[in-house]
Amino acid sequence: MSKSSPKHEFHDSAMLHVTGRAIYVDDISVPSNCLHILLGLSRIANGKITTMELDEVKKMPGIIDVITAKDIPGINDASPIFGDDPIFAEGNVFYNGQVIFGVIAETIELAKKAIKKADVTYLENPPIITLKQAKQNKSLLCPPKVVSQGDFASAVNHCDHIIDGEISIGGQEHFYLEGQVALAMPKENNDIQIFVSSQHPSEIQHKVANVLGLPFHNVSVEVRRMGGAFGGKESQANLPACIVAIAAQKTGRPCKLVYDRDDDMRITGKRHDFVSSYKVGFNKNGVINALRIQHDMRCGMSMDLSGAIAERALMHSENSYYIPNAEFIANLYKTNTPSNTAFRGFGGPQGMLAMERVIDEIAHFLKLDPYIVRKRNFYSDSEKTKQTQQQTPYGQNITDCIINDLTVKLEKSSDYQNRRKEIEKSNKTSNTIKRGIALTPVKFGISFNKLMLNQAGALVNVYSDGSVFLNHGGTEMGQGLFTKVRKIVAETFGISSGNVKISATDTNKVPNTSATAASSGTDLNGMAAYIAASQIKERMISYLSQLYQCDCSDVLFLDEKIIIFGEEKMTFSQAAEKCWMGRISLSSTGFYKTPDIYWDDEKGKGRPFYYFVYGAAVSEVVIDTLTGENRVIRVDILHDVGRSINPAIDKGQIEGGFVQGLGWLSMEELVYANDGTLMTHSPATYKIPTCSDAPIQWNVDFYKSGGNLAETINRSKAVGEPPFMLAMSAFFAYSHALASVKEKYPGLNSPATTEQIYFTQQ
Ligand code: MTE
Ligand code: HPA
Ligand code: MOS
Repeated sequence: MSKSSPKHEFHDSAMLHVTGRAIYVDDISVPSNCLHILLGLSRIANGKITTMELDEVKKMPGIIDVITAKDIPGINDASPIFGDDPIFAEGNVFYNGQVIFGVIAETIELAKKAIKKADVTYLENPPIITLKQAKQNKSLLCPPKVVSQGDFASAVNHCDHIIDGEISIGGQEHFYLEGQVALAMPKENNDIQIFVSSQHPSEIQHKVANVLGLPFHNVSVEVRRMGGAFGGKESQANLPACIVAIAAQKTGRPCKLVYDRDDDMRITGKRHDFVSSYKVGFNKNGVINALRIQHDMRCGMSMDLSGAIAERALMHSENSYYIPNAEFIANLYKTNTPSNTAFRGFGGPQGMLAMERVIDEIAHFLKLDPYIVRKRNFYSDSEKTKQTQQQTPYGQNITDCIINDLTVKLEKSSDYQNRRKEIEKSNKTSNTIKRGIALTPVKFGISFNKLMLNQAGALVNVYSDGSVFLNHGGTEMGQGLFTKVRKIVAETFGISSGNVKISATDTNKVPNTSATAASSGTDLNGMAAYIAASQIKERMISYLSQLYQCDCSDVLFLDEKIIIFGEEKMTFSQAAEKCWMGRISLSSTGFYKTPDIYWDDEKGKGRPFYYFVYGAAVSEVVIDTLTGENRVIRVDILHDVGRSINPAIDKGQIEGGFVQGLGWLSMEELVYANDGTLMTHSPATYKIPTCSDAPIQWNVDFYKSGGNLAETINRSKAVGEPPFMLAMSAFFAYSHALASVKEKYPGLNSPATTEQIYFTQQ
């Protein structure tokens, strides 16, 4: 690794991943007395458990115990915020698939045999499954959330044209390759150690402590890596962690719980599906003056993170457009389905898709290229608006906008105009095969939209041989965070990344951390690690300058060497040893909090985001009008990553995000039966994109700039979530293709599956 040039640094676990030696929770060697847990799930979606007869289960071979809500010494809750996610159902059940008991067994095979002996009876009530049923029953989790500016009601009546419409937007299963999993190791004196696949080790610590009735310091949580998370392990890893903790405390033995794929899909929440209805007033050129969007969201049986997700949806409902009179409303509906949760983009994608739909429909109405309508409504680039200072509907000044410049560059590099002309021409003569093309923008706000979460800590140790140990509060889920933070520390010391050991995230090493989410992992933890490493470096420099009777500014750390007065004096290792002999502290913590952000919850105004990420994509698609079959042919992306810390990782995030977004918008379909059974609970019925669904031709480029205007680490920009929404270009390319066979506006709903595309032409 030390030989690799910094530009082409591999993912820190690349070799382990490809050789199968990377250790995930299920691979951790466990003592031979480790027990295995199998969960009993509710078969109904709404009602009361009248009897739960589990004695016959307990009598089966290899069964150590059966646990229910009665076995919880502390609080029966796994929720992130609102206290409304029981670990084991207590009397009432709220969704089909809800956990009602756990079987603790010597092996999982024995547990599977024994669980058949469970006898559970219910008193069923009619469930609320669909958004329509939830609306009819006024089944709301909380009062609606609103973001607005100007005066929609009066402005809309003074526009040349008004359109009303609606789009339904499907949910999405995370389909992380590694399912939910947790392992608890009981220790002496009530201490317990949890290994779990979670984006949020600190929250796991808190939930486990509350469940067991212990102070936080008795519980330590370790996360080395996840096999993908995508938001699905921000809050929903709490449940398996709490269950293994209860079982381990009760039996005094290590306990492990692995959800199999079907259980995982039935138990856990997904991306929220929305029905978004809109009313828009615009002039003859397509310039929008007034827009109201109402998002009806299916939240499932509890709040989970739906409040913050609704807020992010509202704060992205104007996407890259200046809407002087805007009224965005979110209704959070409670349904008897799993509790929907964070998923890449965190409500942003749904908000933005509704906005792009509005633009697409306006363009169709005015017979204009949607890209022209987009351009006419863009926020102005900030260079030009120093005076005017456009504000978002939530009151944030737009000071870093580049969307006009970026899309013009993409329009040229993708040859958008010529290709659109050629497609429109050839669609006129091609009978069954139609093509479509669209250019859509993305503007995504970076920071957690809850102020207190924007903080991070790190721990750096330099050992006396010069090897460096790094720990921070962020978690690795495949996104390359550890590789980036390691490089930041290595560069601070002027050494190669191979000399910095990345260690598992551990609540004992760095406490009180936030979830690794909101794409802010590198911004937050990278800066905390930089601060920790810089403090050690300053101490080393100060000591060496005394030894060599020079100024601190004469001491340089470069290429594993210490250079003083322009002369190589020693290696970094020798310097570390010298400092240790000189009794210099070579360990430091670092702490960072994002500056300049604030939020007034009552007014719904503030500066929630430290900066925005911008990007745009052009997608070209083809459909077969006889069958609805469809394919993405070519995708051109121009995306702003600021000054990249690792271009290969950033490119991977852009391509991966796009394909995951494409899956959401064109393939992945969740189907619940009337009784709340998830019909699509395995890869047999739920289709995620594979390599063969990726665009045939990819042109992915970074937008060239001097780096982030905000003072982030290395002036880089967050990259995890924003590219997901670039896939909207494919969705609207399908809409374009369909418009060639239909007089009326196609009004495509998401996902644009084969069936959707076939029926939308009718
Ligand atoms: N990339 C991979 N490979 N696996 C993941 O689970 N999660 C995404 C994104 N990219 C994810 C991913 C989500 S939802 C977020 S918020 C960010 O990564 C989190 O990591 P970061 O803040 O370090 O970018
Ligand atoms: N993203 C992800 N998780 C969060 C956020 C967010 O913006 N806010 C609160 N939790
Ligand atoms: Mo990502 S949805 O913020 O974990």
